[in-house]
Amino acid sequence: MKVLVVGGGGREHAICWKLAQSPKVTKLYCAPGNAGIAQTAECVPIKATDVDEMVRWAKANAIDFVMVAPDDPLALGMVDALEAAGIPAFGPRKNAAIIEASKAFSKGLMKKYHIPTAKYETFTELEKALAYIRAQGAPIVVKADGLALGKGVVVAATVEEAETAVREMMEDKKFGASGSTVVIEECMTGPEVTVLAFCDGEHLVCMPSSQDHKRAYDGNQGPNTGGMGAFSPSPNYTPEVAETCMREIFLPTVAALKAEGRPFQGVIYFGLMLTPKGPRVVEYNARFGDPETQAVLSLLDSDLMDIFQACVDGTLDKADIRWKSGAACCLVLASGGYPVKYQSGFPISGLEGAGTSAVVFHAGTKAGEGGEILTAGGRVLGVTALGDTLERAIANAYAAAKPISFQDMHFRTDIGRA
Ligand code: AMP
Ligand code: GLY
Repeated sequence: MKVLVVGGGGREHAICWKLAQSPKVTKLYCAPGNAGIAQTAECVPIKATDVDEMVRWAKANAIDFVMVAPDDPLALGMVDALEAAGIPAFGPRKNAAIIEASKAFSKGLMKKYHIPTAKYETFTELEKALAYIRAQGAPIVVKADGLALGKGVVVAATVEEAETAVREMMEDKKFGASGSTVVIEECMTGPEVTVLAFCDGEHLVCMPSSQDHKRAYDGNQGPNTGGMGAFSPSPNYTPEVAETCMREIFLPTVAALKAEGRPFQGVIYFGLMLTPKGPRVVEYNARFGDPETQAVLSLLDSDLMDIFQACVDGTLDKADIRWKSGAACCLVLASGGYPVKYQSGFPISGLEGAGTSAVVFHAGTKAGEGGEILTAGGRVLGVTALGDTLERAIANAYAAAKPISFQDMHFRTDIGRA
């Protein structure tokens, strides 16, 4: 099969790395890809959000199957467009990808189907939002409705902070149209866990749980990032918690989407908080998470192409999905200054020194003129290792990262422990 993966970060590298192991995949492409992905797939210079060009290229090159990884092409309806062109595609259609693209939609869905989540109200008028914040008091959480690169959420410790956040979203249009509707919700407490699940519209199969580290610096300090590292499984996600989540959250979510005429085919990302009152949904995403996927897919012992096909065909209940025992840890090596301001274009040295006990997924890299690998983004590499225990996986990831360096390189020293 000729398979095309859409996207170009660490998540897509992990997906390509795993798909390349499938005997069914005879030729693998990635658009746009990056310098690391180029080692396993042929990169095609099409922007992930260019739906028309992606469909045209896939048709012209007789692609048999497309995997759409990032949120924005999913929200734009890339899967619908591929299907209309007769090309099977993994990922939710636009009407199901809305569980990530609109927080107002996903909160409404949870309310209607009694899926546990934080209490909330939705606002399109600034004055009403401000009055609600004053009435509720702090701490309180303010969220832009639409996609905001994971940065449209403010957990406000004071009423003033919450008011400023709402003004920035609704008055100053900090996130453009994404902030013209805001969701204001109750602040929950407890450990956070991510559960990714394969879905075929009707059935759901969970992957091992994981946790990411969103803050830039050690001890969960500093600004929110796309994720500075991840590990799997999460020790907080006990079999009892898993059972509760399946009954109260996962199955009801898949059934709700089906009942609404929005069957979900692809990966649902359940962002959960294990509160004193039980597990609650923090957010849904309509895709694999990054960097969680780098850790989670490292543990997959089955053929990923078979699973993708089962999701598209509606036969996930019959799929053979096995996982390795032990744990995985992904350590992100980032550009100094990320996520605020950073420079790129620096040569990366020591990549060959990482050894065979880890896989170095590339998140933001490009090839220089002489073929050397240069930094090309905020998150540059995801050094991912396995271990019999989480401690071993963490130690292996840090050991593999040791020889790697580039100017201004920054990473957290407490991945898996904070
Ligand atoms: P989100 O983009 O919705 O995942 O939110 C980003 C982060 O904000 C989450 O990972 C949580 O740490 C935090 N957060 C979001 N909603 C809440 C909430 N209702 N209570 C407490 N923390 C929250
Ligand atoms: N790591 C969080 C996300 O992918 O949304």
